[in-house]
Amino acid sequence: MNILGIGSTLPEQTVTNRQLEEILETSDAWIRSRTGIAQRRVMKGSELTNLALSAAQKALLDAGLNGADLDMILVATTMGDYVFPSLSCLMQEGIGALCPAMDLHAACAGFIYALETADSFIKAGKAKHILVVGAEAITRLANWNDRTTCVLFGDGAGAVVVGAGEGLLATRLTARTDKDVLYMLAEPGNSPFTNQPDEAPAGVKMQGQEVFRFAVTQSIEDLTWVADIAGKALQEMDWVLLHQANRRIIDAVRQRLKLDPARVPGNIHRTGNTSAASIPLLLDELYRAGLLEPGQLIAMSAFGAGLVSGACVLRWGKEPPDKLTPAEDLFSLPVNITPET
Ligand code: UT7
Repeated sequence: MNILGIGSTLPEQTVTNRQLEEILETSDAWIRSRTGIAQRRVMKGSELTNLALSAAQKALLDAGLNGADLDMILVATTMGDYVFPSLSCLMQEGIGALCPAMDLHAACAGFIYALETADSFIKAGKAKHILVVGAEAITRLANWNDRTTCVLFGDGAGAVVVGAGEGLLATRLTARTDKDVLYMLAEPGNSPFTNQPDEAPAGVKMQGQEVFRFAVTQSIEDLTWVADIAGKALQEMDWVLLHQANRRIIDAVRQRLKLDPARVPGNIHRTGNTSAASIPLLLDELYRAGLLEPGQLIAMSAFGAGLVSGACVLRWGKEPPDKLTPAEDLFSLPVNITPET
């Protein structure tokens, strides 16, 4: 599998930590120091389908393909604008595709799960071109009265079009049931024949430190595993893209793996944790800024509710785009690259 095209879109509305200070007992200093987040993008309405469509259209344009060329649409999302139809199905008409469409739910690791699924369809000869999207409206799942979780999240969408090729060198997907450390209960419904649950659904619930520990340990294990399968040292990676969940998690993984900070870029300070959209958003920013060169090795790692994780090593195959968009503000870029702001 090779990535043939890539695109991403963030909602227009920016919500800063200062704005959160007005509605919660929190502070810009606490959020920045504990998470690295300064602001996030938050959807104003039920516009996830449009965000995902916009990212998909950019990816198709970048690939030089039309929706009609797609054999499958695969969307990693926790929940689209509707419980059903699926987000992938809602997107189909907007991109002029006529292919099967399905959503895949693997929380924040969803994009890597979806890439591996797409690779399997392509390798099996069952598809030539697949649109793989990571799209999340995670801010509408958060409980905005709970300062321990809502400050972390942001919305967004990233998409790639993939086709045949040898670009995916190794992938690791893991899952183990641990529903207590990070979860959100489904609505019980109003059937008069159903007992109401003891605990009323109240958005995302999380034991932050447990998730933190899992994230660091699992990312290190997964990245080491995929690099080994790819026959490379992690230090040989041109880029290591970590799920943008917390700057402290990113720094801990980077330090323990002795990775060059310049090779571990991030945008969490601007985006917050966008769950399944996090990795494709960051990858697209690097690509649009002209930082990805054909032949470069990219390792990616994500983790989330489940608990699940996914990691992979890609060999990038695309030339930089003709028109470069200066990286808005990515931390830890190589010292010789100064993004315009
Ligand atoms: O995609 C996966 C999603 N989740 C994650 O990646 C989360 C991983 N975990 C984390 O990122 C961190 O654990 C958090 C950022 C969630 C929390 O940071 P922490 O350093 O683990 O803080 P803590 O939970 O130990 O809380 C320390 C204090 C507590 O007060 P007390 O009990 O010491 O008085 C919290 O009540 O900070 C308090 N606190 C806050 N204070 C101001 C928690 N949230 C806030 C807040 N503003 N937003």
